[in-house]
Amino acid sequence: MLSVKHLLGIKYLTSNDIDLILQTAETFLDVINRPIKRVPSLRDITIVNLFFENSTRTRLSFELAEKRLSADVLNFAASSSSVSKGETLIDTVNNILAMKVDMVVLRHPQPGAAHFLSERVNSKIINAGDGAHEHPTQALLDAFSIKRKLGSVGGKKVVIVGDIMHSRVALSNILCLKKLGAQVMVCGPPTLIPKHISSLGVIVETDLQKALEWCDVANILRIQLERQDTRYFPSLREYAMVWGLNQERVASLNKEILIMHPGPINRGVEITSDVADGKQSIILDQVESGVAVRMAVLYLLAGRKEGEN
Ligand code: CP
Repeated sequence: MLSVKHLLGIKYLTSNDIDLILQTAETFLDVINRPIKRVPSLRDITIVNLFFENSTRTRLSFELAEKRLSADVLNFAASSSSVSKGETLIDTVNNILAMKVDMVVLRHPQPGAAHFLSERVNSKIINAGDGAHEHPTQALLDAFSIKRKLGSVGGKKVVIVGDIMHSRVALSNILCLKKLGAQVMVCGPPTLIPKHISSLGVIVETDLQKALEWCDVANILRIQLERQDTRYFPSLREYAMVWGLNQERVASLNKEILIMHPGPINRGVEITSDVADGKQSIILDQVESGVAVRMAVLYLLAGRKEGEN
């Protein structure tokens, strides 16, 4: 059983919780590769996907995971709702819960939104990304993808490259990988690496070639232009020249590394198309893993009895 009632961030999970989610996801990965992909585990459970920020992968992946588990699913997009008339987050959610909804999957631009909601409404909350804070299911699916390919996460060397400062994927990945015993490095422009990040137990490197030579896995991040009100590097062209992953850099290594990206990709900026679509890339495997991992999270949280912490 998980030690938490909600999935608000990797920060709140124990390593046993993470192991349990990854083990459960193995079972669901088998399920979604069968001819009959649906199981009755969440029959009579109603889940709302509440998205206040754009999403392709996370929203579709949660919806598919819920449907594969036979849950009833409601989809909510803030842009076409009464939020535009001034309704608050709490009022919106309480109105939805009055329709007898059991679980809420929330994506929101404000850091802490999922935590705030979990303290004010009587429902299980899953954080599907809160601003630049956490994206726990992305980190879990990334760990699951590494385990699928390399057999384990513990002891592996993972470099996270790019806009560490504005990335919820970076923070959740660092916390998750460290809890699983991986060695973690961050690499990018010094202006996009938070000053005190080494207190999380990560190595800091600004030279991409050295980072690539060190790692078993490179997780490449998008520049989060939507979260930047100032420029942190001269131009995207110069960013691509210094910190972009291209075939020349990959070919210069005397080993194979796993190449990951949470998406959406800006082809030609942080990664070139030949690398993103190349044989060392597991970007689409990550998407497949996402459905299995989200099924595991929903299944395990739904299994907790009321009154448990
Ligand atoms: N990786 C990820 O969160 O993608 P979306 O923004 O498309 O959901």
